[in-house]
Amino acid sequence: MSERTHSAHPVTPSLVGRTAGKRIPVYLAKGLIDHIGRALNPPALPRAVEVVTDEHVHQLLGRRVSAALRRAGWSVNLTILPAGERIKTSATVSRLHERWFDLRYDRQTPIIALGGGTVGDVVGFAAATFMRGLPLWQVPTTIVAQVDAAIGGKVGINHKRGKNLIGCFYQPAGVVIDPSVLATLPVRERRSGLAEIVKYGVISDERLFRTCERHVEAWIDGRAPIPDSAIERCTRIKLRIVAADETDHGPRRALNFGHTLGHAFERWGNYQRFRHGETVALGMVAAGWMAAERGLWTKEQFACLCQVCRHLRPVRLPAFRSKEISIHLGFDKKRTSGHNVWILPRSIGRVDSFADVTDREISSALAFVNVWVRE
Ligand code: GLY
Repeated sequence: MSERTHSAHPVTPSLVGRTAGKRIPVYLAKGLIDHIGRALNPPALPRAVEVVTDEHVHQLLGRRVSAALRRAGWSVNLTILPAGERIKTSATVSRLHERWFDLRYDRQTPIIALGGGTVGDVVGFAAATFMRGLPLWQVPTTIVAQVDAAIGGKVGINHKRGKNLIGCFYQPAGVVIDPSVLATLPVRERRSGLAEIVKYGVISDERLFRTCERHVEAWIDGRAPIPDSAIERCTRIKLRIVAADETDHGPRRALNFGHTLGHAFERWGNYQRFRHGETVALGMVAAGWMAAERGLWTKEQFACLCQVCRHLRPVRLPAFRSKEISIHLGFDKKRTSGHNVWILPRSIGRVDSFADVTDREISSALAFVNVWVRE
């Protein structure tokens, strides 16, 4: 990469997130991965920066990111974790902490989480808890991470009783989003990410939803790239929601649309069988069914959601009994006073939360999903 191209890239953030205590710059542009060193304030003297990634992302981007940081004067230490959800454990966090003590990191050492949501979550949690917090840079490399997981400060690990049950809110020092890295995503990962984009359409942006309706097939099979504008739209929505409710007691809960049952399906599949977005697609259809049954939105609106989600659902879903899935609802973090809070749509672009969803409604929605996935 020539110095000319290097310096042509702006270092001003495309978007800025705000929470009570922090301003979070978000850099979003194709090609940024090769200029990441310009987003972090270049060090006056050579200083250590830690890049943590997984083995898959390292193959594709590890060297490029390290080179870009070195060009900006950083001395790069690289840690490569195994790929997959199984790294989201307290053992990984301890391992990272041991290494960071060995390397004598201090509270100024930037930690770069380079990867999908799994890497962002576990590395973010390790950064948040080491010496009460190191500056964390989220560099998401999947759609799910770019539009959702890397923004908003939720970091954490899994517990045997459920996903993400151990964690905290820890806002990053910055987020660097390069949509060009999505070109190498496998089809299944692309479909999974698109479910999150559709989610933003349903909760807040009808225009985005209609764009998804028109292009979802072409985006999945690679005939057309997912436009940067769709990624940016989701990022903006998320930043706005997080600014209004950082700690998830009010408007932020809308982001959980499709996730209450989605997480239950993920747990039922042992976090191995399905991609996150595949189960979110199932959860959105279940929530859409409940909303239609309650008369919150029309059958036609529900049919539009089903039509888009048809492309995003798991290709193979074994027949299940409602109880097998609903049993996993018990440890949802959004429970208040023993009730799960459900996000149900009122129209395309608007949702509300409900704490009075009954077991009968859940069974009925799951019965619908059981048939729908086989249509
Ligand atoms: N992924 C949902 C949230 O950040 O609140």
